Amino acid sequence: MRISTQTISLLKGERAIVAVTAYDAIVARYADQAGVDLILVGDSVGTTQLGFETTIPVTLEMMLHHTAAVARAQPKALVVADIPFAVAHGDFAELLSACCRLMQEAGAEAIKIEGGAAMAPTIERLTRAGIPVLAHIGLLPQQFHQLGGYRKFGRSEAEKVMLLDDALALEQVGCFAVICEMVDGAVAGAIAQALTVPLIGIGSGPHCDGQILVANDLLGMNAGYVPSFVKQYAQLGEQVTAAFAEYTQDVKNGKFPS
Ligand code: KIV
Repeated sequence: MRISTQTISLLKGERAIVAVTAYDAIVARYADQAGVDLILVGDSVGTTQLGFETTIPVTLEMMLHHTAAVARAQPKALVVADIPFAVAHGDFAELLSACCRLMQEAGAEAIKIEGGAAMAPTIERLTRAGIPVLAHIGLLPQQFHQLGGYRKFGRSEAEKVMLLDDALALEQVGCFAVICEMVDGAVAGAIAQALTVPLIGIGSGPHCDGQILVANDLLGMNAGYVPSFVKQYAQLGEQVTAAFAEYTQDVKNGKFPS
């Protein structure tokens, strides 16, 4: 049975929600066969697949391209597409059109938007228009230049209060779940308890209602920086290099084709 936004919401309190990113049909198919609940076509596609240093250069056209590839795998898992940098902060009609294109043209079943309580009025207009929204609080990678780098959130009392307010405001306007990135584990746990919708953590400890990881990080296929909270379940990067090296030697030595 296909997983809907309602399924995700109802999993809260039943069992941990399993989410992962994917950017193409092949990886989406593997993740789906493994039984993940939610596949996020994150704008992390920019850093993991497209060679950018941050997610900021990722455009709507890129998100449409990669979301369509994931949707073509026809996963049972819920397919969620990220709204790229700046699109959420401009004209509402443009944002609504971006959401509609991601759902109608590319096959996303929900969209994700970075931002806390300040985004709540915009998100309310989207949910009222029938767009299912996954919220994203804590570390917001699209604000990389404003933040001056990546760091943990919720360590001060003021940030703790702000994060809780953000999450409650986003629940209030109809988000079906909230992603919480790089938030202090105890604070994330308190937010999860305060919400009726699921809180899905990344780098936010074990007390969330589910976890999400970037596929390239967990598969060991990340050429750059790997966050310390990541558990690598494979070292595919090393295996891929070894396979290419063996092929190179075989061709050079006349062993392939035999
Ligand atoms: O773009 C992305 O992959 C994300 C996850 C880190 C949650 O936003």
